[in-house]
This record gives sequence, structure tokens and C-alpha cells, in this order.
Amino acid sequence: MHSTAKLVIAVIGAGTMGRGIVQLFAQSGYSVKLFDQSAEAVANAQDSINERIQNKVTKGRINEEEATAIINRITATTSLNAIGDCGVVIEAIIENIDIKQNLFVELEQVVSSTAILASNTSSLLVAEIGARCQQPERVAGLHFFNPVPAMRVVEIISAVNTSENTVKSLKQLVETTGHRAVVAEDQPGFLINHAGRGLYTEGLRILEERAASPRQVDQILRDAADFRMGPFELFDLTGLDVSGKVLESIYEQFQQEPRFRPSSIIPPRIAAGLHGRKTGKGWYDYSDNTSPGNEAPAQTADIQTVSVWIDEGADEYNKLSELVKKAGAQLTESANQAQLQLIQPWGIDATQACADLGLDGRHCVAVDPLPGLEKHRTLMLTPITSEKAKQAAIALLTLDGVTASVINDSPGFVTQRVLATIVNIGTNIAQRGIANVADIDDAVSIGLGYPLGPLSLGDRIGGNKIMKILEGMLKVTGDMRYRPSFWLRRRASLGQPLTTEEASRATITSGNINKGGVDK
Ligand code: NAI
Repeated sequence: MHSTAKLVIAVIGAGTMGRGIVQLFAQSGYSVKLFDQSAEAVANAQDSINERIQNKVTKGRINEEEATAIINRITATTSLNAIGDCGVVIEAIIENIDIKQNLFVELEQVVSSTAILASNTSSLLVAEIGARCQQPERVAGLHFFNPVPAMRVVEIISAVNTSENTVKSLKQLVETTGHRAVVAEDQPGFLINHAGRGLYTEGLRILEERAASPRQVDQILRDAADFRMGPFELFDLTGLDVSGKVLESIYEQFQQEPRFRPSSIIPPRIAAGLHGRKTGKGWYDYSDNTSPGNEAPAQTADIQTVSVWIDEGADEYNKLSELVKKAGAQLTESANQAQLQLIQPWGIDATQACADLGLDGRHCVAVDPLPGLEKHRTLMLTPITSEKAKQAAIALLTLDGVTASVINDSPGFVTQRVLATIVNIGTNIAQRGIANVADIDDAVSIGLGYPLGPLSLGDRIGGNKIMKILEGMLKVTGDMRYRPSFWLRRRASLGQPLTTEEASRATITSGNINKGGVDK
């Protein structure tokens, strides 16, 4: 690869992504040539990039001279021959396989034999984009996120024919911009969109079961699990018409793997135009310009007259009994005499926990042990929990000012099932060798803004706890989407952190000639 000073980068396609990519590399000191078949697109892109650079001057981030230098490093063209001297070409044109394939064939005729050809595709196979090239080993994916300068992670997609040198050169190139470069195999959703499936699909399962409302799911994940946004707010932000298609396509590309199964709830909502913020209505109503708010349960109970039993196996037994004492309620050691029975199950629903413990479902309320009791609390009812037991539980658990949600019966509440699903998918990405541990965790925390990457998140909760949740969910639902990955099962069984890479893994690839294989 050429040095930064000499390397000229070509960006093909002057739309949303092309503009961002041009800006990033020009800001990082590279000469960039921007090509688009449309002169109008090129002119618009130049105006928009200039405006963004000028904004940085206004905000005092760079001075006039630096701005001029950045702008001078960008050349726009509508002639493909003008990019002949470029060492790296980054394609960001329309997402269409035939058009991309034709472009890559043309590119090979224009650039030198050592130039790298990268595609910013988000859903096509990189192997297919380079399939008609004479040197497919120099074709890779370079997947940026919008807005490119601010989203500080880039996926380098290594297709089956991509050479190690191509991957290495692109990694070095991206790192000179200050963005984190992660390497992923040419698999559906690559790394970040693959790892991001769990939040959406599990949110939809919870809603399908009528376990909790979209507003409750979002609030619980924000307040109890530190997510910036829950799945339904995210759907509304991206647009259900777009996210719904991505859900379908990744599910189909993974050959209907149950972990990625979308929901029949979605197509009627797309058809009805409930796309989210852009249509004014989605899971939330935006017509009055307010943000999705929270939902507080009403409380009416006179807690002093209630006798409460707490399961001795509850993780937060001490804290729960303190609350009972503080409330002036009676703590009883006999479950039969209690009007409120508090339990803290992992992975199973309140009904199953009642059956396992021989309790009376009418008096039973479950409290989610996963987030502890310091943050938001989730109370879960059996289908026959009495109004009295419910009101007593709300009064008791909101006594000290901590907020609470009351949901219907669900294996694993909301936090357990969503977090365990995210960890399970993340560990399966590691098991399949789609990316390494450090790249999975960084890509997810930077690219998706989750509080932690999936493997570190699993370690914080504990591999055994994640196993317990998944096995409970598998037992209660019979749904194979909850089967634990081997990566998770083996590390949990061996008492090792989930971030443990294979000590000396045999080199098994999907038949990549350039990367070595078992019979090499
Ligand atoms: P866009 O529609 O904003 O821009 C595409 C540009 O490509 C247009 O200026 C168009 O004139 C030009 N173009 C189309 N065919 C061409 C051809 N044969 N030769 C030269 N120029 C041509 O599209 P956008 O959103 O920038 O997406 C571009 C690529 O990036 C797609 O592959 C997309 O899947 C991918 N991507 C998009 C993301 C996003 O958030 N928009 C995120 C990550 C990847």
C-alpha cells in the first residue's frame, strides 16, 4: 500500500454515503477523487461537503486554512478515466448487484493492477460484487455507517476470495482516519447488523406474546439496562419500511434461522404507513412533536395490612425484606398465609416458577432479579394474580421512589430475554469465526451504541446466568431460537469468561484459498 501522502482515494457515488466517505478521508489528509455518473449529484455533493467543512470552522474546530486545505484535496469528476491513479477505490453507488458488478469490471480496466477495490454495500454479498473481476483477491467490503465522520467504526469485509493483504491494507488505511476498523466475514448483516438482530426480534416476540407494551419494553431497556433506545423507538427512528425489509432479508439469508425470525406484526403496520417518525406515527404518535414517554403504574394499596412472603431463593431477598419492613407490612415465613408472594425467577415465566415452587398463582408477583433493585424494577404477574397482590407489590416496590413497570407473564421478563438473546447471538458470531472477540465487542458498542459489547455484557451478567436464562426460555417456549451457542455453553461449563478466544483453534475456514485451511 502507498504512503498516506501519495495514496489517492477514489469514491464512486456522490450520495449520502459517498459524501461522508470523501469528507472523512479528505479530513485525514488524503487526496480524494469523487466520481458520479450524474454531474448534478457531484455538484450537490461538493456543495454539501463544503458546507460541512465551513460549519467546522464556524464551530471553531478547524481554522480557515485547514478548511481550504481539506476542500482542495477533493477533486470531483464525471469521467471514470480520471481515477486511474487511485490506489484505493471505494464504491458507494446504488444497492444493485448487476450495476455494482458492471462497475467493478469497468474499474479493473481503469486502475492499476495493485489498486484495491472496496464496496460500501450493506446487504449484498461482496463475493458476488467481485465475481466478474479478474483479480477478486483485491475486492473487499468497506462498510461505513451514516453519518460517516461521526460513526467511528468501519467493517472490513473479507469475502471468500479476498486476500489477507487486501484486508490488512484496508485496516491500516481506516485506522489512519481514527475510526476503529473491524474485520468481518462476508456473511449476512456482516458483523454489526448481524449482532443487532437480537434487540429487534426479541422485542417483537415480547409484544407478540402480549407480555409488555412497546413503551414498557423501551423504558425497561433504557432505565434498567442502560440502552440509549429500545427496539420500538429504534424502529420509529429508522423507519419500519426500511428495518422491516432488513429483518426479512437477514432471516432469509441465514436460511430461516429461528434466532433471526421477524414477526407477522410488521407487514400490516408497514402497509398501513405506520413507518415511524417520518410518517408521524409508528409505535408512538409523533403528531404533537413529543418524545416517547414512560408509563407509571397507578398505586392504591394500603400496604400495612398485607402479609408478604419472599422466596428464600430470591437473589434480592435481603433488599426485598427491608422494603417490606420499611413499608410496615408483615413478613411471613409461610407462603400459604401470604397475600403477596414475591419470587425472582431466571428465564422461566411467573407461572412456571409458581408451579415449580408449589405457590398459589393468585398471590404471586415476580420481580426481575437481573438489573438488581437499584434502578428500574420490573414486576411480572401470572395470568391469575389478584388485583390486591398486584397493588400491594406496586406499593411495596415503589415505596423508596424507584420507578417500576408491571408486565404480563413472560419467560425471562424483558431485560433477561433481550440481553441473553444479544449475548447468544454475539457468542455465535464468535463461534462461527465471523469476527474475533475484540472486534465483536468494539463494533457493537461503537456501531450500535450498546452499553457494552455482547461478550463483555455476558461476562458482566455471568455466563452461567445467561445459560440459565436461555435454558429456562427454551424449556418454557420450546422455541429453538433460545438454544445456547456452543461458544457460550462451553465457556460457561468450563468457568471461563465469554471473552476467552480459542486457545489454539484449528484453522477451519469455509474454503478460503487465500487464508489457509485444514488441508493446507
Ligand atoms: P444514494 O442514493 O444517496 O447515492 C447513490 C449515488 O450513486 C447517487 O449519487 C447516484 O447518482 C450514484 N450512482 C448510481 N449508480 C451509479 C453508477 N453506476 N456509477 C456512478 N454513480 C452511480 O445512496 P447511499 O445511501 O449513499 O448508499 C450508497 C451505498 O452505500 C449503497 O450500497 C448502500 O447500501 C450503502 N450504505 C448505505 C448506508 C446508508 O445509511 N444510507 C449505510 C451503509 C451502506
